[in-house]
Amino acid sequence: MKEKIKDLFREIDELKVDSKEHVEQLRIKYLSKKGALSDLFADFKNVAPEQRKEVGQMLNNLKNHIQEKIEHLRDEYTQKEETGKEHPDLSLPADFMETGSRHPLSIVRNQIVDIFSHIGYTVFEGPEIENDWHNFSALNFPEEHPARDMQDTFFIEKSDEPSKDIVLRTHTSSVQVRMMETHKPPIRAIFPGRVYRNEAISARSHCIFHQVEGLYIDKDVSFADLKQTLLYFAKEMFSPETKIRLRPSYFPFTEPSAEMDISCNICGGKGCNICKYSGWVEILGCGMVDPNVLENCGIDSKIYSGFAFGMGIERMTLVKYNIKDIRLYFENDLRFLKQFASVI
Ligand code: DAH
Repeated sequence: MKEKIKDLFREIDELKVDSKEHVEQLRIKYLSKKGALSDLFADFKNVAPEQRKEVGQMLNNLKNHIQEKIEHLRDEYTQKEETGKEHPDLSLPADFMETGSRHPLSIVRNQIVDIFSHIGYTVFEGPEIENDWHNFSALNFPEEHPARDMQDTFFIEKSDEPSKDIVLRTHTSSVQVRMMETHKPPIRAIFPGRVYRNEAISARSHCIFHQVEGLYIDKDVSFADLKQTLLYFAKEMFSPETKIRLRPSYFPFTEPSAEMDISCNICGGKGCNICKYSGWVEILGCGMVDPNVLENCGIDSKIYSGFAFGMGIERMTLVKYNIKDIRLYFENDLRFLKQFASVI
């Protein structure tokens, strides 16, 4: 028995292999149930009791030795197959690692946050799945009010009583409500986030997009404060030469309401296809927070007043970087994204 073990040790040491398949054949020959090692273990019962300890140890050593050898050979041949050589070529140049860059929407979102943080605005966020109260009712959209149709809503739960509806928020104005419900004035905050509307996808609109909402509530806040804040923002965002104009508009949650245009930064106001040859591009909605909204959120409208504004990040990016099709933002085509690699 001892001789057999020693012979097998020698045999294993001298093994020569020429392929991965050959390694597998050897594994079967030595390690399978019907292999050489099993035969030796089967013979073990015939070993004299006084020799069992020594022979048992020899057998175990042999088993480990064979397993290691087969594993080593297998690794060697796997590597050979992968590299075509016995050892990897360490002189080869390393694989090129591409670095990513920020998405244009994130770049513009960060720019907006930066600009407002310089004048004391903090960032606050709310949920994308909202109840009717925060998305509509508290914002002065009465039930059955036609203004609800302005926003093509995705419903998560729709009931006969609109006040029980659960929706994907259609605007970040819902976060105004959450902010006012949980914070006492003075409030100066912006709310960036994703919003959803049931709209056909085209070059100009998408069912998922991003907005930044702004809210300023304090004593004696006036429309002049709103105008000056937005002028500062437009100059910082686009260029110091940028002009703004406010056009009267309607939103249920602001009174008075306005839409703001900036002088077209692509053509400098001369007229181009971005500004539709008017020299002006609309970039946001704004107004003085309706006293009903303040009261709905537990703020005394006799003491406090404030303004709010909301802008689309896709639109802002489109105007800033002259992007023609909103769908480009979501396709993740590297040829598009790489153009923003140099913008921080
Ligand atoms: N929520 C409006 C929208 O999605 C945008 C908006 C307009 C926000 C006027 C405001 C505002 O805060 O005052 O179209």
